[in-house]
Amino acid sequence: MNSINKNDIKVFRTENSKLDQTDFENLAFGQIFSDHMLTCDFKDGIWQKPIIEPYGPISLMPSAKIFHYGQSIFEGMKAYKDKDGKVFLFRPMENVKRLNKSAKRLAIPELPEVFFMEGLKALLEVEKDWIPEKEGSSLYIRPFVFATGEGFHASPANQYKFIIALAPSGAYFAGKVKVLIEEKYSRSANGGVGYAKAGGNYAGQFYPTQLAKDKGYQQVIWTDDTSHEYIEEAGAMNVFVRIKDTLLTSPTSDRILDGVTRKSVLKIAEDEGIKTEVRKVKVSEIVEAARNGDLKEMFGAGTAAVISPISGFGFRDEDFDLPELENSYAMRIKKRIVDIQTNKAEDPFGWRVQV
Ligand SMILES: Cc1ncc(COP(=O)(O)O)c(C=O)c1O
Repeated sequence: MNSINKNDIKVFRTENSKLDQTDFENLAFGQIFSDHMLTCDFKDGIWQKPIIEPYGPISLMPSAKIFHYGQSIFEGMKAYKDKDGKVFLFRPMENVKRLNKSAKRLAIPELPEVFFMEGLKALLEVEKDWIPEKEGSSLYIRPFVFATGEGFHASPANQYKFIIALAPSGAYFAGKVKVLIEEKYSRSANGGVGYAKAGGNYAGQFYPTQLAKDKGYQQVIWTDDTSHEYIEEAGAMNVFVRIKDTLLTSPTSDRILDGVTRKSVLKIAEDEGIKTEVRKVKVSEIVEAARNGDLKEMFGAGTAAVISPISGFGFRDEDFDLPELENSYAMRIKKRIVDIQTNKAEDPFGWRVQV
């Protein structure tokens, strides 16, 4: 049952494609959705065969456990088209594995890897025309699993749904990214679910992030939940700090998402001869470096945001601006990653997967 080929996946096509009405020149991030989605149910103790069907509403019972106990996990990845129309994914197995890591932590049955990969390939074949060609745009891929099984008993559901939906998307951030280093609220805690892509991790960030937005920041940089002395990550990005010529980032832990982009940045930096240190980074160290001019750059790294330079940060009612650099590490590394993703450059690391 667990072996499947993309050609075995049944496709139920829509009769009302939205393709012609879509403005691919002016795409926001994750606001419009392609014509089809992949769906796959878990019932009777096994994952059933995935199918492709028109993107549309799904029907759930009010007692479905997703609504009560939040058993919900997701992934985020992208498909890219090169100038010849060839379609590529970037390190997709990392996402497949991370989805199952999240599943395990949320007591959701793990999905056969081939269902995810073959399902995604089949879906991309159907939705090829939804992959934007414009530079800076791509097809954002959202695989997710949630509890459909019923019951008010606080225990794992016995039924789940896996869906892959697609959103042709432009840039995640519209302008400059100013961040607030947060000391009161925490995103995650030791022994918790911070390393999983659990829906609730994001719900818990919305309120503190809104408080930061009200003060003029776009994002929060989370600090560790015990001392609040060390930076961890941002809302949907891992964070890098350049002090003098060294690039620093926090080690992953059970509080931090092990980002695919983060791993790729570290590898490319190494390849570029940039000195990196993966270690706990003190807020006081960043503030001091900002004061004495040693803080050269900060940037976020994530699939949605790619590499997003941080223009400044706030900490305890004080604002610090970062200089605009000509040949920044952020831009150098971003170019290397994007060129690999879009088949403009050699891929010495074997990250690109043609669909
Ligand atoms: C909390 C969090 N940190 C980091 C990242 C970056 O991870 P990746 O590079 O795999 O997209 C994401 C996005 O997936 C995220 O949601």
